Amino acid sequence: MDVMECIRTRRTIRRFMDVPVEMRKIGDILDAGRMAPSAGNLQTWRFVLVVDEDKRRKIADACLQQFWIASAPVHIVVCADTDETKMYYGERGEKLYAVQNAAAAVQNMLLAAHAHGLGAAWVSAFEEGQLSNLLGVPPTYAIQTVIPIGYADEKPLEPAKYRLDVVTFLERFGARLIDFNWVLGRYSFHVERALREGKKLVEQAKAKIKE
Ligand SMILES: Cc1cc2nc3c(=O)[nH]c(=O)nc-3n(C[C@H](O)[C@H](O)[C@H](O)COP(=O)(O)O)c2cc1C
Repeated sequence: MDVMECIRTRRTIRRFMDVPVEMRKIGDILDAGRMAPSAGNLQTWRFVLVVDEDKRRKIADACLQQFWIASAPVHIVVCADTDETKMYYGERGEKLYAVQNAAAAVQNMLLAAHAHGLGAAWVSAFEEGQLSNLLGVPPTYAIQTVIPIGYADEKPLEPAKYRLDVVTFLERFGARLIDFNWVLGRYSFHVERALREGKKLVEQAKAKIKE
């Protein structure tokens, strides 16, 4: 499946089959997280891989009693090193970049799981102290997300998503696009023309070299 299909068809999965997941796939998912973009390439995420059943139950409990989480055979808990981002970028680093870095890694992992035929969810509702104690996360790290992963035992419908013209403005915040497709068409027309002209210049240069 190509990347757009993967993005469009990914769903939050909250019911999992009682089937083990190949660790090779989990390795790929973790690698997708590792490859995410990060501010200054600091890569301030740390991933705690949890397969132990008792721990998974306790994680589900710490996630405000979202007990469905425990039925996923693998959990990845994403932590952010807020100290390091603060050291480099001050308050913005601590409050914003650390969170955004982790979020980029989470989304990469959700897409990688889906590409491998697995279901996963982004869970950020939890009692952080309870999770930190359970997993021994140092105080300089903020837990960002729990990702339960397994084979999906449900096929959720696509939830309502805003149309593109509702969430996109042209040139200035609030400037709505009356005919979104027309505007996109105009812009792609300019891009196509620039490419055509560029190609022509290359051909002319090649012909000159041959002369
Ligand atoms: C920051 C964040 C926190 C979330 N926390 C939870 C959560 O605690 N429990 C849960 O069931 N889903 C959680 N979700 C998943 C959303 O409910 C889900 O993405 C949304 O309903 C859209 O569905 P979709 O992912 O299938 O497009 C969270 C998603 C995000 C981005």
